[in-house]
Amino acid sequence: MAELTDVFFVDGMRTPFGRAGEKGMYWNTRADDLVVKAIIGLMERNGDVPKDRIDDVAIAATSQTGDQGLTLGRTAAILAGLPLTVPGLAIERMCAGAMTSVTTMGASIGVGMYDLALAGGVEHMGRHPIGGNVDPNPRFVAEKLVDPGALNMGVTAERIHDRFPHLTKERADRFGVASQHKVQAAYEAGKIQPDLVSVAVKDAEGAWGLATEDEGRRPETTLEGLATLKTPFRPHGRVTAGTSSPLTDGATISLLAGADAVKEFGLAPKMRMVSFAFAGVEPEIMGIGPIPSTEKALKKAGLTIDDIGLFELNEAFAIQVISLLDHFGIDDDDPRVNPWGGAIALGHPLAASGVRLMIQLAAHFAERPDVRYGLTAMCVGLGQGGSVIWENPFFDGKKKRK
Ligand SMILES: CC(C)(COP(=O)(O)OP(=O)(O)OC[C@H]1O[C@@H](n2cnc3c(N)ncnc32)[C@H](O)[C@@H]1OP(=O)(O)O)[C@@H](O)C(=O)NCCC(=O)NCCS
Repeated sequence: MAELTDVFFVDGMRTPFGRAGEKGMYWNTRADDLVVKAIIGLMERNGDVPKDRIDDVAIAATSQTGDQGLTLGRTAAILAGLPLTVPGLAIERMCAGAMTSVTTMGASIGVGMYDLALAGGVEHMGRHPIGGNVDPNPRFVAEKLVDPGALNMGVTAERIHDRFPHLTKERADRFGVASQHKVQAAYEAGKIQPDLVSVAVKDAEGAWGLATEDEGRRPETTLEGLATLKTPFRPHGRVTAGTSSPLTDGATISLLAGADAVKEFGLAPKMRMVSFAFAGVEPEIMGIGPIPSTEKALKKAGLTIDDIGLFELNEAFAIQVISLLDHFGIDDDDPRVNPWGGAIALGHPLAASGVRLMIQLAAHFAERPDVRYGLTAMCVGLGQGGSVIWENPFFDGKKKRK
């Protein structure tokens, strides 16, 4: 009889994130090749893990057509050179795709059915624009189930401003500037690069290059500059390109293991999964989704928000992160939150981003033995939130750093 077991995040890697569109570095690169490259990089870095012992490969994508179609987990596993005996599946929960890959594989490990699994996601938003190729049921609008604006994520962000007027544009702008500056500082300190898998890319003329860094960063961002930007989602609105995650191409992957596999293969896990939860909210203000999902995950873990020493929150929009911080009484510039910046600067390739948060939290944990618990959380289109709480294996039980 299989027994319940601890679930560990052993390691994670990702491709550099590219700006979506014709001018972006991945315009001539297939989406599936991005995730294949990430898998190869991760397996190389974890060479002691026997490939034939991987029990499953879960890869998320929001748009599951074309080069993101065809049961990505299976196709990517074959293309990455995993043995044909290793199965795979595709996962879809919009922005929380990779997070759901991790929780689904994590749960399978937790109940003792799997020993090792790969979990990640990919989104080539240049080749697969948000909402492209979908056919929403007309009942959503005809029966007023969901406002048509709920399908435009930027509009839902504007509505958070409407709902909570004390969460001002100026606060969002400050958050956007800080994200850019924190990412740049992290790059300069060499914090981000170790978990990136370089990708060979071809430009429009067919010349080869190598993608080694996230492309969308704007370190020169200033508060004054952001104040002048257009508000693309509403005339005289408050959300701008400076406070939104940009359209992005990229892929992420993680290796998960149960306690027995950690022992058997002598692995050194970077995080232990404590709890996870997803929750639904009104689709019209989808960005507040991580508030109830975090509350659920905390409850499951028997923890409170004060137990969380580090937060990796996906910055789909500055305002939706601020709404979560405000709810929990955390300052917009609290140093525990996104210490190396976030998606506003790095990009948000929808179904890939959840594992990017985990990769970053894992890197923090290694440097912060004073922190026991960390949270990865994100909002999800059509009104959902996802949260995973992690424990730091390097926690040394000493007093919290101020
Ligand atoms: C906000 C959004 C519409 C902007 O798209 P875009 O107009 O193609 O973005 P750009 O990068 O061209 O930026 C627009 C302008 O702002 C400027 N800009 C962007 N970020 C800036 C910054 N940090 N500092 C200064 N200027 C900035 C650009 O230079 C550009 O200026 P220009 O018009 O003079 O060329 C797009 O990024 C978007 O839809 N984001 C949300 C994606 C989403 O919904 N994801 C899912 C979340 S749940």
